[in-house]
Amino acid sequence: MGNFLAGKVVAVTGAGRGIGRAVALAAAAEGAKVVVNDYGVGIGGGEPTSEVADGVVKEIVAAGGEAVAVADDISTMAGGQRIVDTALTRFGRVDGVVCVAGILRERMLFNMSEEEWDPVVATHLKGTFTVFRAASAVMRRQGCGTLIGFTSGNHQGSVAQANYSAAKGGIISLVRSAALGLAKYGVTANAVAPVARTRMSAGVPMELKEIGEPEDVAALVTYLLSDKAVAVGGERITGQVYTIAGPKIAVWAQPRELRAGYAEGSWTPEKIADFLPGTVGTDPMPMLAQLEAMAKAAAAKDRPNA
Ligand SMILES: NC(=O)c1ccc[n+]([C@@H]2O[C@H](COP(=O)([O-])OP(=O)(O)OC[C@H]3O[C@@H](n4cnc5c(N)ncnc54)[C@H](O)[C@@H]3O)[C@@H](O)[C@H]2O)c1
Repeated sequence: MGNFLAGKVVAVTGAGRGIGRAVALAAAAEGAKVVVNDYGVGIGGGEPTSEVADGVVKEIVAAGGEAVAVADDISTMAGGQRIVDTALTRFGRVDGVVCVAGILRERMLFNMSEEEWDPVVATHLKGTFTVFRAASAVMRRQGCGTLIGFTSGNHQGSVAQANYSAAKGGIISLVRSAALGLAKYGVTANAVAPVARTRMSAGVPMELKEIGEPEDVAALVTYLLSDKAVAVGGERITGQVYTIAGPKIAVWAQPRELRAGYAEGSWTPEKIADFLPGTVGTDPMPMLAQLEAMAKAAAAKDRPNA
């Protein structure tokens, strides 16, 4: 066992499988006491079972670590609260929460139903809010803590997962809001956009050239949860979005205005039509340029091996 997280208490949602499981095991191996949350559902969110969370707790205990299972649904306020309450009653504090849980319901926007939209947004976006909400109240009192959300490169847009993409974009804004609102209480918030071989990525309808293992993602999360997560200037890292894809780590840009123009007098549609294209212009969307390649890969049924 290492000691990167010695003495810390960390709660991980979606910790029964895939990336969440790797994060829970890595955190425990580095000395953290871990709350293992997993609702134990299928990839679309159905048929819950508590065995999935229990299994990872057994693995941690067998390796000499300390962990407790919570099999609640994190899309409910009670579920998010129970995770944090369990950390407090079992281990006395909560130093980090990592919101990894997620589901997929893929459909083209023009065919997407409310039953495909609501649970996906509820699991990812509300499921990050419920845990951040409960944890941040405790961390504010403690004067320290780390919140980590899980987003995706898909926050840039998605052909057939508008629900998932919208939720993942929302998570970035939630993380940045948490970083801003909690900075004065010593609490940090960051997001991770992983690319790793799991049952979820096995269904991605395109060839992924850069992909790694859940353990790579767990290493980044362990670092971000630790006291070593400090920038070159000595400031604690907060408000950032990192991609980890096998050997690659990348930081995403902060959203900012690219170019601006100013009217003389007030704007009219005619004035804008004359002015906008040649001055403010557009910012080309990289994913639009990849549509053809993505369609080809989907037709060829290229899938990363899970
Ligand atoms: N695997 C990738 O390459 C990839 C890429 C981009 C983003 N992500 C994100 O990383 C995270 C983990 O993905 P993964 O590939 O390990 O998926 P996974 O399907 O292997 O694991 C997700 C886990 O979340 C649990 N879960 C689902 N709904 C829940 C709920 N309401 N409450 C509690 N637990 C719930 C599931 O039971 C499952 O064990 C997700 O947020 C996903 O969107 C993954």
